[in-house]
Amino acid sequence: MKIRWGIIGTGYISKAFVEAMKVVEDAQLIAVASRTQERANQFAKEYGITTSYGSYEELVHDPRIDAVYIATPHSEHFANASLCIAHRKHVLCEKPMTLNQEDTKMLAELAKDANVFLMEAMWTKFLPITNHVKQWLEQDVIGTIEFMDAKFGFIAEETKESRLYNKALGGGALLDVGLYPITYALEVLGKMPNEIHAVAKFSETGVDKVNALQFEYEDGPVVTLHSSICGEIGTDAVITGTKGKIVVEDFYGATKATRYDQTGALVEKVELAFDANGYEYEIREVNACILQGELERSIHPMKDAEMIMGILDTIRKKWGLVYPGGK
Ligand SMILES: NC(=O)c1ccc[n+]([C@@H]2O[C@H](COP(=O)([O-])OP(=O)(O)OC[C@H]3O[C@@H](n4cnc5c(N)ncnc54)[C@H](OP(=O)(O)O)[C@@H]3O)[C@@H](O)[C@H]2O)c1
Repeated sequence: MKIRWGIIGTGYISKAFVEAMKVVEDAQLIAVASRTQERANQFAKEYGITTSYGSYEELVHDPRIDAVYIATPHSEHFANASLCIAHRKHVLCEKPMTLNQEDTKMLAELAKDANVFLMEAMWTKFLPITNHVKQWLEQDVIGTIEFMDAKFGFIAEETKESRLYNKALGGGALLDVGLYPITYALEVLGKMPNEIHAVAKFSETGVDKVNALQFEYEDGPVVTLHSSICGEIGTDAVITGTKGKIVVEDFYGATKATRYDQTGALVEKVELAFDANGYEYEIREVNACILQGELERSIHPMKDAEMIMGILDTIRKKWGLVYPGGK
């Protein structure tokens, strides 16, 4: 049996999703929806999708569709996901799930009541190399973790059109990329910090364009996390323990991880290539969950998305960064 998918939004990540879909055996792409019929038609033509809708509402009324991938700006996720859930569609929603924890919790409740699957598209957690790094840690190959650093940053031009700098669309480094190092740290360390320190520089549009976070753990490691949309600050994660360290290049979409001993000598380098572009693993997970009738599984359950949103809320509160809508 195949899970029949629909896509909402026709931007950058929708295209990557379609590419990944090509290697997912138990998935079939049925339709794409855009806010305009013209863009929907264009996207459908380019990717060989048979049905295109000029509104998101039309797509959720298509009875053939089992699951919807939401690939719109952050500010739209709550409304788009609510719409899908109300029409009993399973949902894979791009990150961050919503603009704040309260809305994420509300979506989780709506999905539970409607008996549909809901997951944030945190693809990093499903990558084979992430799994490999977790196995190394379980095998205690680097000993007790004493330090962790993870970064995700790039340069995006600060223009009026840019989604990343647009406050009304939930722009800013923290919500767009900062949640990756945060999610990775929680996955590696398995626990919430006791205290969070956070500093940021703001753009003229009023969103954080670069930030530095420090997670404080009682009797735990020192953790530093950075994100940026205005500078190439790096994209690696480094986990250092009493017996060695692990370096994960481009950790958010990694195919490689390297292990060193405590003297810095190379011990092992592992490379696990993607079947497509890396998004196929999260799609396979959603399909498997739906086919097995499991509304939540342990890799990225809604409680994790809620926890991350809570951390993002805490940090934004320190900075006084409030998105339109107020929360
Ligand atoms: N997992 C990843 O690696 C990854 C990478 C990039 C982005 N993302 C996430 O995916 C989401 C979309 O990002 P993107 O880079 O694909 O964005 P994008 O290129 O700007 O595309 C977003 C799409 O959303 C639709 N949309 C709906 N309401 C909109 C509004 N008010 N303003 C602008 N567009 C609107 C538009 O499609 P129509 O006009 O056709 O409806 C647009 O093409 C974000 O939440 C982002 O965090 C994830």
